[in-house]
Amino acid sequence: MAKGPTMGYDDILLLDSEYVWHPYSAMGKKLPVFAVESAKGVRLRLADGRELIDGMSSWWCAIHGYNHPQMNEAIKVQLQKMSHVMFGGLTHQPAVMLAEKLVALTPAALKNVFFSDSGSVSVEVAMKMAIQYWHDKGQPGKQHLLTIRSGYHGDTFGAMSVCDPVTGMHSLFTEVLTPQYFVDAPTCRYGESCQDSDLAQMRTCLAQNSQNIAAVILEPVVQGAGGMRFYSADYLQQVRKLCTQHRVLLILDEIATGFGRTGRMFACEHAGVVPDIMCLGKALTGGYLTLAATLTTTEICNTISSGTPGVFMHGPTFMANPLACSVAVSSIDLLLSTPWQEAIREIEKILADGLDECRQLAGVTDVRVLGAIGVVELDHAVDMQTIQQQFVAEGVWIRPFGRLIYLMPPYVIDEADLRTLTGAVVNIVKKQSA
Ligand SMILES: Cc1ncc(COP(=O)(O)O)c(C=O)c1O
Repeated sequence: MAKGPTMGYDDILLLDSEYVWHPYSAMGKKLPVFAVESAKGVRLRLADGRELIDGMSSWWCAIHGYNHPQMNEAIKVQLQKMSHVMFGGLTHQPAVMLAEKLVALTPAALKNVFFSDSGSVSVEVAMKMAIQYWHDKGQPGKQHLLTIRSGYHGDTFGAMSVCDPVTGMHSLFTEVLTPQYFVDAPTCRYGESCQDSDLAQMRTCLAQNSQNIAAVILEPVVQGAGGMRFYSADYLQQVRKLCTQHRVLLILDEIATGFGRTGRMFACEHAGVVPDIMCLGKALTGGYLTLAATLTTTEICNTISSGTPGVFMHGPTFMANPLACSVAVSSIDLLLSTPWQEAIREIEKILADGLDECRQLAGVTDVRVLGAIGVVELDHAVDMQTIQQQFVAEGVWIRPFGRLIYLMPPYVIDEADLRTLTGAVVNIVKKQSA
C-alpha cells in the first residue's frame, strides 16, 4: 500500500477505517467518511479530485474560508519566532494583542481574558470562575448552574452537565454528571417578544434556589447543536434582569454565535445584554488552530484574585498558544477590514430565498434563517448513511444531524455557490419525502 504524501483515496479510507475514531461515530460500523486533500476558499478538494462547496465552515469556524493568504502568512511569521511556550510565568505579543482585541470587541464590562484550548474547556473555565467568585464572596453554597433545555455547551464533564439532558447527546453519563438546574427553553422565537409563561420556570427556579446557583449559562439567541433553535432576544433581556435581581451571574456561551454569525458581532448584541462571563471559540480561530477564551469583568477578576487561594485554579498546557493567537488576531483583523455585516445580510437573504421552497415539501416542519445560519427541520431523523452520500453527489459538504439539515457557510461564499448549497438542500429534502 502506498504511504505518505502519495497515499491514494482508498488507502486513506482503509487506514481510517482500521484505526481512526471520528466524532460521534462508531468503529466497525462506520458512517461514510470522505478524505480531504486540500481546501481553498469555500471548496474542499477530496483526495480523489472531487470538489465540494463547504456549507459548514468546519462547524462554525472557517468564516473566511480555507487556506487564506493573510492568515497563512500570520502563522508563517509566528512559526519563524516560536510555535509554543508555556504561559505560566511567560507571555508574548500574540496573546496580549489578541486579549486587547477581544476586550475591545466585546461588551465594555468584559475586561479580562483567560485563554484555553477548546470551547468545552472555556465553558469549564467559566463555570469554575462563577463558583470561585461566589466562594470568595462568602457564598460557597453557590455551586450549581441553571440553564435552559435544548442547549449544548461541549463534551467535557462540566460542560456536559449543562447540556440538554436528552438532545445534548450526553444522557449516558447522567449518573456521573453534576446535577444542575434545568428549565424549559423559551417558545418565543427570534423577533417575537417574550411571554410571561416563557419566563415562569426560570423565575421560580431562581426564587427558590438562588442560594445554590452560581450562574445561569445560555447560548444567546441561537441554541446550536441542541436543536438549532432561534429564540427571542427579549427573553435574554428578561433573564439578564432576573440574574441581577437574584444575585446570580450570567454566562453567555458565544462559542458558536460569536464573530458575526448571527448578523451581529456577538449574539448578545441582539438583546443589548452584557454577560458577567463570556465564552468564545470556533470562529475566534479563523478555522486554523484550536483556541478558546473566557472573558470576565473586573469585579469577578478582582474578587477571585483577592480571595482564597487568591489565584484562579486553572492552567492548560497549551494556554494562549502563540500560533493560534497570532492567526486569531489575523482573523479578527480580516473580519474588521471587510464589510462583514453586509456579507451576512446578503447570505441571510439568499438562504431565506433559497430554502423557502422547502416549506412546501412533505416532511418539513420548519425553515428558519438568522444571519448566516439556515435550518430546515424535518419531522423525522435523517439517515446519515444515505444523506451524506447524496449531498456529496450534489457537490456540496453539508452534514445534517437528527432532524436538522442546516447551512452555515463561510462568509466569503458568493451567490452562485450559496445557491448551489440551498439547491442541494431542496433536492435532497425532496428525495427524503419521495
Ligand atoms: C455553543 C457551544 N459551546 C461549546 C461548544 C464546545 O466547543 P468545542 O467543540 O470547541 O469543545 C460548542 C461546540 O459545538 C458549541 O456549539
